[in-house]
Amino acid sequence: MIAIKPGPQKLRVMWEAFMSFRVVLLAAAAALLAAPNSTAAQSLDFVAYQSNVEPIFLTKRDGFTRCVVCHGGATNSFSLVRLRPGVNTYTEDQSRKNFEVVSRLVVPGKPEDSHLLMYPLVPDEGGAAYHSGGRQWPSKSDPNWQVIAKWINGQK
Ligand code: HEC
Repeated sequence: MIAIKPGPQKLRVMWEAFMSFRVVLLAAAAALLAAPNSTAAQSLDFVAYQSNVEPIFLTKRDGFTRCVVCHGGATNSFSLVRLRPGVNTYTEDQSRKNFEVVSRLVVPGKPEDSHLLMYPLVPDEGGAAYHSGGRQWPSKSDPNWQVIAKWINGQK
């Protein structure tokens, strides 16, 4: 006779091992999810964001629609505060909300790993194949790209 079914005792041990492993996995997943956001916002400078980066989202570039037109109140992860018609500036409070969102789209110290810089970039330079808002960064030497990269690198 070959025992094909583990006895109740063995099943219980296996179940307990599985449950404790699951706790470890859940804790690790939670840590992974929580960490990047909070550290990103901590090492990125709010004042530099507010004075140098945010205006880029509000400024019209030839042949393109302003970022804020589509991304104000957007349902994708680049969701800026929506502005009322005729208003083209953010209050301090609104900028802080935007800063939290934008911080999650960048990797501090790594412009080329940052979604905000790579997604709207021309594919020739490593940008996404498609962005509904167009290739608003014509190259990495584009002044807007450079300003955002400086912020990500923590340079003033
Ligand atoms: C015409 C509308 C439109 C404009 C203008 C626009 N976008 Fe987008 N953007 C979208 C849409 C829609 C998406 C969702 C993915 C897609 O369809 O490409 C998106 C996605 C993105 C993403 C990826 C967000 C994510 O899910 O991680 C980034 C980053 C981004 N846009 C940056 C910008 C920047 C920066 C500007 C201005 C320079 C801009 N977009 C202008 C429509 C627009």
